[in-house]
Amino acid sequence: MHNQPLIGPAPLDENLTRRALDFALKSSTQMAEDVLRVPLNYYRDEKLTELEINAILRRTPLAIVPSAQLAAPNDYVVRSVLGDSLLITRDSGGKSHVFLNYCRHRGAMPACGAGNAKRFTCPYHAWTYDTTGQLVGMPGKEGFTGIDRATYGLVELPSEERHGFIWAVLTAGADIELSAHLGPLDAELAQWNYADYGYHDDREFQSEVSWKGALEAFAEGYHFPFVHGGGVIGQNTLPNTMVFDKFGNHHRMGFPFTWITNLETDPSASWDPSQQMGVIYWIYPNLILANSPVGVEIIDMLPAASPTRCTVRHSWMGRIPATTDEQRDLYDQIYNQVHAAVRDEDFVMLPQCGEGVRQGQHDHMIIGRNEIGVQNMIRVFADALGISLLD
Ligand code: FES
Ligand SMILES: [Fe+2]
Repeated sequence: MHNQPLIGPAPLDENLTRRALDFALKSSTQMAEDVLRVPLNYYRDEKLTELEINAILRRTPLAIVPSAQLAAPNDYVVRSVLGDSLLITRDSGGKSHVFLNYCRHRGAMPACGAGNAKRFTCPYHAWTYDTTGQLVGMPGKEGFTGIDRATYGLVELPSEERHGFIWAVLTAGADIELSAHLGPLDAELAQWNYADYGYHDDREFQSEVSWKGALEAFAEGYHFPFVHGGGVIGQNTLPNTMVFDKFGNHHRMGFPFTWITNLETDPSASWDPSQQMGVIYWIYPNLILANSPVGVEIIDMLPAASPTRCTVRHSWMGRIPATTDEQRDLYDQIYNQVHAAVRDEDFVMLPQCGEGVRQGQHDHMIIGRNEIGVQNMIRVFADALGISLLD
């Protein structure tokens, strides 16, 4: 299936800056060997979307929330993933857990929102669970004589906390195997120390585009001058200039900032890649981490109800946790700016692609050699799903 040589991971060092600078000076980009043709059905077939959900998304470790969102013992967050309500807790000993947020009595939801709590009381008949999921309270227990209360805790999903995220597999009883999943990206992610970042904010919205099409918007800088021309991305980032590295199924891209060419003349300029380019990871299957010099955007995309509708969750963490109102205000400004670029620029454009996919009568899309990251996503998904592309 792969007709291009796989490019081995390069460490996040000055060599990455050197490669990006070379492309910047030539107004060029790293390219795939050939164009890639993709059938429209890849984005709109309902059976394929079902397969993506059942064979990939419910079987693969997903980063559910950043650790920093539950920094203290007894912090908790409820979020919905693929229609499942999840209760994520940090117990009094500091260990994180991911539970299905469904009461073992008759299925109501014991927790909602986010905060700090030692107990979660179901709103229906007040069964109460602790932060380890144990059933610790049950009004009128004489109605339930003979049951073993210890076996009626919340259903816990396999989870693990690593690199500043709480990961889980959405299938109870499955193995998580996070090391094998991350593969060569494990050591790469460790370099960022995301566990030390400060959680700031998140927003969730839906969009009329395939979740895979949405992910692809974060794998090429070809659209930057057209979609982001008036915004910060368009002003700060070179158009159609990218460095690409594969890390197993995952990939890393560098999008050089306009000031990278100062390295030619300014000996005091930093060669730290994170100062000279937006470093963006695709963590298979559904997560984008977009690093800037001050923080990281965490963007996850999932199918929602139809092949060309998706849910997007966009969070942000600051490299240095905010400790003053002034810093929090600054982070608010940064988050509002990056969120506007995603919501008002990318996700204003993307529903048009969704419409083209639904209504189009051309049989394929064509992905350019310059869209090397998009090609990688499509090839990895096609491999995982066992489908063939047109090339
Ligand atoms: S459904 Fe939760 S206590 Fe009855
Ligand atoms: Fe974009």
